[in-house]
Amino acid sequence: MEWKQRHILDLDTWDRSELQYILEQTRSMDELLDRPIKKVPALRGKLVVNLFFEPSTRTRVSFELAEKFLSADVVNWSAPNSSTEKGETLRDTAWTLEAMGADAVVIRHGAVGAADYLARKLKKSVVFNGGDGAHAHPTQALLDLYTAWRKLGVLEGRKMAIIGDVLHSRVARSNIIAFNRMGVRVVLSGPPTLMPKIPEALGATFTKDPVDAVRDADIVYLLRIQRERQIEGMFPSLDEYHQFFGVDDRLLGSASPDALVMHPGPINRRVEIASEVADGPRSMILGQVRSGVALRMALLFVCLGGVRQ
Ligand code: CP
Repeated sequence: MEWKQRHILDLDTWDRSELQYILEQTRSMDELLDRPIKKVPALRGKLVVNLFFEPSTRTRVSFELAEKFLSADVVNWSAPNSSTEKGETLRDTAWTLEAMGADAVVIRHGAVGAADYLARKLKKSVVFNGGDGAHAHPTQALLDLYTAWRKLGVLEGRKMAIIGDVLHSRVARSNIIAFNRMGVRVVLSGPPTLMPKIPEALGATFTKDPVDAVRDADIVYLLRIQRERQIEGMFPSLDEYHQFFGVDDRLLGSASPDALVMHPGPINRRVEIASEVADGPRSMILGQVRSGVALRMALLFVCLGGVRQ
């Protein structure tokens, strides 16, 4: 298919055929990760700058690995120790990096719309959104979709329960869009104070009772409590949160027998997830991490016009 998405900013504008195309491209990259030598020359001569204004382990490292496996030149930039500390704006930082020859910029930023803003300001570089505030985390949703697709095969008609702090979660928003577009029914659960006002507008329904959400679900997707984005008093305590919404084997018992347990990470054991579930046979958490490398290779490849060898 002819690839039309210049930047990867959000999934709002993606249709099912684009999602399916990326799933298939990711499967090819995943096969490459099984080889003893993973490096291919597909992006030789391209320069990618990873611009991280917020902490990250999975997104930052997997983008870097993906870039290196495709033989791109890589620069890792982080806000501390940069000229941001001297008052340089995001726009001027990005223009500076583009002037040095960046073909692509991966950005994680606490401000909603930061990636979109860069895409409008940069002339040449392709922008990949590695998470902007509570708005979107498209590469996370795509790697989640890929993980579920490889395990479950057909996604149409499946049920996905998303439990936790949906209100502050860019992951939830992007996942609802992606899974809904592939025909998955998404049910949200968590404290009402941590839910969006109109979940239906996102393509999901809401129940206060996590047992209702998990019942017969094929995917149980857990979210961290995003304390860095919350105001005080949105729920009584982490202990109480765990008691009502923490997923343990008992709650998981009402899901489909082959249900997948997913979490974008980092996990908080004994808060949203019990260790028996995080480390249990249905947990996809480390599988998601591996999918993240393959998915980001696929996106870099299609957006930067990679050459197949
Ligand atoms: N899932 C995710 O974005 O993790 P990091 O914050 O470690 O990148």
